[in-house]
Amino acid sequence: MRIPFGTISITDRSKHLINMILKSNRVSSGRYVREFEKKFAELIGAKESVAVSSGTDAIVLALAVLYDFGAKRGDEIIVPALSFAATGNAVLQAGFRPVFVDINRESLNIDPLKIETAITENTKAIIAVHLMGKPADIDAIKAIAKKYKLYLIEDAAEAHGAIYKGKNIGTLGDMAAYSLYVAHIISTVEGGIITTDKSEFAEVLRSLRSHGRACKCESCVLNTSSAYCAKRFQYGDNADIRFIFERIGFSSKMNELEAAIGIGNLDLYDEILNRRRKNLYSLMGRFKQFSSCLTTIKKEAYEEIGPHAFPIIIKESVKFTRSQLVNFLETKGIDSRNLFSSMPTQCPGFNFLGYKQGMFPEAEYIGDNGIHIGIHQDLKDEDMDYIIDVIKDFLVA
Ligand SMILES: Cc1ncc(COP(=O)(O)O)c(C=O)c1O
Repeated sequence: MRIPFGTISITDRSKHLINMILKSNRVSSGRYVREFEKKFAELIGAKESVAVSSGTDAIVLALAVLYDFGAKRGDEIIVPALSFAATGNAVLQAGFRPVFVDINRESLNIDPLKIETAITENTKAIIAVHLMGKPADIDAIKAIAKKYKLYLIEDAAEAHGAIYKGKNIGTLGDMAAYSLYVAHIISTVEGGIITTDKSEFAEVLRSLRSHGRACKCESCVLNTSSAYCAKRFQYGDNADIRFIFERIGFSSKMNELEAAIGIGNLDLYDEILNRRRKNLYSLMGRFKQFSSCLTTIKKEAYEEIGPHAFPIIIKESVKFTRSQLVNFLETKGIDSRNLFSSMPTQCPGFNFLGYKQGMFPEAEYIGDNGIHIGIHQDLKDEDMDYIIDVIKDFLVA
């Protein structure tokens, strides 16, 4: 038996589109990227979506938008201490300073009670990460964002399909950043997408992903001087608007081949989501029997968890180590990954920020004692039974 960590569904429709795109020679960002964006926005229930080349870039660009709305380089962004390193990296790549806040060990998400003491006059935004698809405590975070006039950006990389109090994750803040990497429910192989209801943010995002260009509308891209564009009007008829750079930008476009994979994946969305959710909730329910040794996240009545992966946390009281559990799973064919680490104190790349071990005890605990395993769409009920049996065997051994 093998329980691999991840999978990707590449549909016949995607293969057909890829062939057509290759034959047409129009492979860089174009009509299929637009189609994917439109469909993704509809799925999430957001007015706009902007596709980019990774989930990390989705966060970077969402943050870089804030320079057009009053932020200055070096301003501070509140980030949970526990996330995939991409969240912290993105803040630095965008030119801001991450200010880390510990998490709640039960939810794995930022602890709203610890946010206010981290806010200074330089704070511009809070990034709420919905780790392992578990919705962050958005009402509490939003109240703080409102009180201090901060932007709220969702890191929804792992939260495809998650719902909070009747609303889709991805519609709860000013912008939301998704990863479309292979591990995720909707995938373009590599890729990311930002959703927002604010067209003024979407316009800046489209400029940012294309080097900060003044305009990326159809008439400007084709440089057809007869066509009307407000930007062209602003810079004058003689200007080549493709070479006017209004802001410091990035090279972060999605291409047509990636969009074709994503469009095919969207056709399967309900099927993938339902299978993954069934797998996740089946493991969560049956994990209660292990509660003296192992825990996982809980589902509140007002939420649906985005079924990204299954987190397992080893309790303090046990007599075995994480490596022993991981090795046992491995010998039984079950792939696992360590859960993420405390970015500021367990990821050496962040050392220069000066945080010291012990400052984020909850995140550090997960960094030392957490793992996650796959619950993807290629896994069936019998695979979930097998996982439970293997863990039972490990705990009685
Ligand atoms: C929480 C979180 N944020 C950001 C990212 C970055 O996404 P990507 O790998 O597409 O750059 C990931 C990756 O899966 C993630 O898990």
